[in-house]
Amino acid sequence: MRDPDVPEKAIAHRVRSYTGNSADNRLDGREESRMNDDTRFRAFRIRNDDGGYRAAVQDMAVDELTPGEVLVKVAYSSVNYKDALAGTGKGKILRRHPLNGGIDVAGYVAASTDPALREGDQVLCTGCGLSEVRDGGYAQYARLEAKWTIPLPAGLTLREAMILGTAGFTAALSLYRMQQNGQTPELGPIVVTGATGGVGMLAIDLLTRAGYEAHAITGKVDHFDDLIALGARQCIARTDLHWGQRPLEAARWGGAIDNVGGDMLAGLTRVVHPYGNIASCGNAASIDLATTVIPFIIRGVSLLGIASAGTARAIRDDIWRYLADDWKPAHLEKIAMREIGLDGLGGVFDAMLGGGSYGRTLVRLD
Ligand SMILES: NC(=O)c1ccc[n+]([C@@H]2O[C@H](COP(=O)([O-])OP(=O)(O)OC[C@H]3O[C@@H](n4cnc5c(N)ncnc54)[C@H](OP(=O)(O)O)[C@@H]3O)[C@@H](O)[C@H]2O)c1
Repeated sequence: MRDPDVPEKAIAHRVRSYTGNSADNRLDGREESRMNDDTRFRAFRIRNDDGGYRAAVQDMAVDELTPGEVLVKVAYSSVNYKDALAGTGKGKILRRHPLNGGIDVAGYVAASTDPALREGDQVLCTGCGLSEVRDGGYAQYARLEAKWTIPLPAGLTLREAMILGTAGFTAALSLYRMQQNGQTPELGPIVVTGATGGVGMLAIDLLTRAGYEAHAITGKVDHFDDLIALGARQCIARTDLHWGQRPLEAARWGGAIDNVGGDMLAGLTRVVHPYGNIASCGNAASIDLATTVIPFIIRGVSLLGIASAGTARAIRDDIWRYLADDWKPAHLEKIAMREIGLDGLGGVFDAMLGGGSYGRTLVRLD
């Protein structure tokens, strides 16, 4: 979407776009010195070398960024579980080093060689190799591949897009895949696990908006009221769950969005109604899954894999349109619990990996 009121800040940082490494794309001396003077910026850069795995906020220049057709002046990023794994080295997320962290980015096009994306346009990108093989959104600039750069849909601000970020996209992708596989509100309530996390809260809000009855399973009983305020019609403490021992127990939910994995996911397979869907999004508790084939071959339950980072462009476009419209969560500002700068990332990562997440964290870059 073109923004006629592009902030001066974005314009002031205009630089010529070039799509390769600096060695292959020399600028003339005048421009090069302008870039050196004007376009150094701050980035949360992750390294893994002889000095060990570490991350720090540092200065860098645009021509050090991984290549891409679209240079973006970043306004917001966000914190996802995967960012915490990447930023601390507790998960093997980066496939090359060094890289800027941040799997989400939203901001203004500062320069572009793709005619479809013009200077000043508001754009976003989630996943698509950010903080895996490309420099991510924890920096004041990012260079994106045009094919994965999504114009901000009407109905969302850049801030809202990053309250959603990968978490909201994943919640929506879960419902999208469930509906493609026959999920309807008539099949019964959808239960969301890891309910106070980013994906969890956004899923509860979005399901309610989309006409489903949402139930919440959480380890944080003191947040029941907050989950009810988002639309949850029932909240269940994780410690109160008794799945039983049989391959099939009394069916309780029409479907599930699971952020947790392990025993939780195994238990869900036994209590979902015939032809219901379970979207497997996460592994906050465990990567294991010990269940039987009985729910699948007797009840026709489907286990759907959710892989947000590699989602095809056409589906991405659909999902962002839904998120900006009929599925737009009604309580985005309530779910955005905190706003931090690059210096605050470490503390948020630690809380997240300790299971202490609550809602979404916005990272502000401007
Ligand atoms: N497949 C994909 O494309 C995709 C995309 C985004 C995220 N994910 C995954 O989805 C999960 C949630 O991501 P997120 O960004 O929402 O993370 P988050 O904000 O940290 O939320 C995770 C939530 O899981 C619950 N939890 C944490 N540790 C647990 C444990 N040991 N046992 C049971 N529950 C536990 C907690 O909720 P309660 O205290 O309320 O139970 C926590 O708030 C992560 O595993 C992440 O890697 C996958």
